[in-house]
Amino acid sequence: MEKIIVKETKELKGEVDISSAKNSVLPIIAGCILCPEKIVLKNVKMLEDVQVITSLLRELNSEVEYSEITNDLVINSYNINPLEETNELVRKMRASFLIMGPMLARFGRCKISLPGGCNIGSRPIELHLKGFKALGANIKQGHGYIEATAKKLIGNRIYLDFPSVGATENIIMASVLAKGTTIIENAADEPEIWDLINFLNKMGADIYGGGARKIIIKGVQNLHGITHQPIYDRIEAGTFMVAAAITNSMIKINDVNEEHLMPIIEKLKECGVVVTEEENGIIVDGRYDKSTADIKTLPHPGFPTDMQPQMMALLSTIKGTSLITETVFENRFMHVPELLRMGANIKIDGRTAVIEGCTKLTGCDVNSTDLRAGAALILAGLVAEGETRVGEIHHIDRGYKNIEEKFRKLGVNIERVTI
Ligand code: EPU
Repeated sequence: MEKIIVKETKELKGEVDISSAKNSVLPIIAGCILCPEKIVLKNVKMLEDVQVITSLLRELNSEVEYSEITNDLVINSYNINPLEETNELVRKMRASFLIMGPMLARFGRCKISLPGGCNIGSRPIELHLKGFKALGANIKQGHGYIEATAKKLIGNRIYLDFPSVGATENIIMASVLAKGTTIIENAADEPEIWDLINFLNKMGADIYGGGARKIIIKGVQNLHGITHQPIYDRIEAGTFMVAAAITNSMIKINDVNEEHLMPIIEKLKECGVVVTEEENGIIVDGRYDKSTADIKTLPHPGFPTDMQPQMMALLSTIKGTSLITETVFENRFMHVPELLRMGANIKIDGRTAVIEGCTKLTGCDVNSTDLRAGAALILAGLVAEGETRVGEIHHIDRGYKNIEEKFRKLGVNIERVTI
């Protein structure tokens, strides 16, 4: 079993390079199913989740090549087969469900294991299915699987009750090759959605925004091979911004898009952190006095749920009372008991956590309960007295490539050990 051991760090110094966004790369890889030609994805890090989805494509007979040197991921789905049986890899990662839309578009059929819930919530898929049905698919639910079939998908107007990221992506991909026009109302508006749209448009799709939360997809006949570089990971960047804030340090974060980071920057500013734009990145200066802040997670451009645990670690160290309300996932406070073990003072009342800051955190054994919870525990470990030993780090590896190496470069005493 592996653990990450992090020791109290006085100050971070230097620069950190941000990788491409996991939540862009995964739908984009699913989108490669739509095209029977070679697609080159630049600057892709082989995260655990990326390995799962590329293995799935390989099993279905796509050609997939990856270079550890250039970080190019080359996918050719000319010979890909439809997914017609339940598959272990699909069960391993919820995001695998994103192949359903492109499979339906390309083959008119797909049979896939029903994704289960996970630590952060039950994560239903009825909005994805509502979209497929509206496009003319027949949906059959069996023993732990879903089967969708359609002779020809036909564009339609689809209203999403909630702007689900995955449902928006799946419906976009299902409708790219459909007959006629599809309009998604109350669609998700995350930067990763627009990265997927840019990627598909480069391949020849015809997709554009039609005003607030409206996405219009005009069906096209076919798509062609391209090269695309997915956007940088705003959540990885946000995690390092919090690292600077919690340690009262100043660091440079390279390769980020300030606009994508706006909700995180605004909240950190409220806490007293100074963020300035630099050529090719931002400087995050956390050396000033800090103030409490109240946070409510919301779909973009609201505050991202994927930054909520990291902000909770920070707010646990700021004198006064802060409130965090989690509205996106019903169970995303699993990190609270772990932070309590480190001496934080947090009470949960329904969907709101009340944080009494200014405790001196103390290092101990803690477990990451999900990806971002794990990141939050490392952040807490940066300022906790002594040593923090974070277990269950396979969760962290799903979304951060060599997180300990990036922290080490910033001067943190951190190592990965096998015990
Ligand atoms: N929801 C429904 N019905 C549906 C779909 C979603 O009720 O059919 C609910 C979910 O249960 C949840 C909420 O809507 O309560 C948000 O879910 P959404 O579909 O927007 O999330 P997702 O597509 O499953 C992606 C990211 C998550 C990120 C969320 C929200 C990927 C691969 N995953 O998940 O990333 O938290 O959007 O921004 O893109 C992470 O990176 O740590 C992570 C969990």
